[in-house]
Amino acid sequence: MLPQPLRRHRRHSCRLEAVKQILLIVAGGIAAYKTLELVRLATKAGIGVTAVLTKSGAQFVTPLSLQALTGSKTYQDLFSLTDESEMGHIELSRAADLVVIAPATANILAKMTVGLADDLASTLLLATDKPVLVAPAMNVRMWQHPATEANINLLKQRGVLVVEPNEGPMACGEYGPGRLAEPLEILSAIQAALNDGPLRGKHAIVTSGPTHEPIDPVRFISNYSSGRQGHAIAAALAALGARVTLISGPVALPDPPGLTTIRVKTACEMQSAVQDALPADIAVCAAAVGDWRAAAEARHKIKKDGGAPPTLALAENPDILAGLSASGPLRPLLVIGFAAETEKLEEHAVAKRSRKGCDWLVANNVGGTGIMGGNENEVLLLTEAGSEHWNRMNKLAVAQRLAAKIGDYFK
Ligand code: CTP
Repeated sequence: MLPQPLRRHRRHSCRLEAVKQILLIVAGGIAAYKTLELVRLATKAGIGVTAVLTKSGAQFVTPLSLQALTGSKTYQDLFSLTDESEMGHIELSRAADLVVIAPATANILAKMTVGLADDLASTLLLATDKPVLVAPAMNVRMWQHPATEANINLLKQRGVLVVEPNEGPMACGEYGPGRLAEPLEILSAIQAALNDGPLRGKHAIVTSGPTHEPIDPVRFISNYSSGRQGHAIAAALAALGARVTLISGPVALPDPPGLTTIRVKTACEMQSAVQDALPADIAVCAAAVGDWRAAAEARHKIKKDGGAPPTLALAENPDILAGLSASGPLRPLLVIGFAAETEKLEEHAVAKRSRKGCDWLVANNVGGTGIMGGNENEVLLLTEAGSEHWNRMNKLAVAQRLAAKIGDYFK
């Protein structure tokens, strides 16, 4: 027999037949409270959720809260006669389109690698033939322990999708990577894995982050870009079903799951990676590409010799966005540029859009506002239809709004 949400959808209509289902395993950890928000967002996005709570997960969230949010029974016990009469654990693991573990503890990841099946969650994971996505959360030392690192690498090799944890202060008072990814980030990865959206079949190229233009082996020219906005856009496009090639300069962010990330260092490397990734339907140039590079990179560290400071001769870098906009038959159907401005935002943005030849332009005022390198963005969007002002919001929300607009464009 099927889990309740599936039964409900099958009974009612053909349209609901297409609803995607996830089986969500909630393991232990203080981050489990964020999982409730993930369930709320997923159901709002039309994804059916059936929850399984581990023994340690139940220390942090109650089955009742999960039940209320998913609208269906939350499963906990491997040997519950009622559950086994409703459905076998094998069927529960197979009835979903995707199995998600959030938060995933070091323990459950370790069990997965060796195939331990000593409770409902681990038995389901061993029995499933569906794709599995994990969002780990744990203390920084546990995350960085060679055992966890080896387990994660092995799981990735087996095709498990990993939404890497974020860096920040932890509940235990330490600081570092190990915090559960934000619910919106996990939702994007889930949607990308379900690969069901208006951009299905479309290829998108996204550039992100700064570039490093070397001066000598120990110095480079760069900027404050973190890559947060570009990476979030790449994930949001993948969530709408696009095949995404993310071309990223040097950033401290993990590669988003479910898409292809190509890491580059300089503007010239970024340009050739973009050329190699063509053809594409969509190009979003969110990278803060260095306009200039050192005319000649010194082979050895430039030394102070007691004389006048050295003069740095610069050469102009290729303009990747302008090149894409003018790439003739290979030009993506929709080319979107960004504009980082510190004054006269609209005036400069309008001029930049026509100079670069792009279709849309996302302009940001980056002058002393904490936007470049920060978590939030305030956007002036220029399209063929005119301009729109988006109030300051989280970069993940900006990415979702832009991706939705791109989805509408291709409807
Ligand atoms: N861009 C690019 N290649 C470059 C420089 C910029 O692809 N060599 C792209 C950026 O990714 C962004 C847009 O062009 O989408 C505008 O970048 P911005 O730094 O705002 O403008 P610049 O072209 O550098 O112009 P200016 O410095 O005069 O503002």
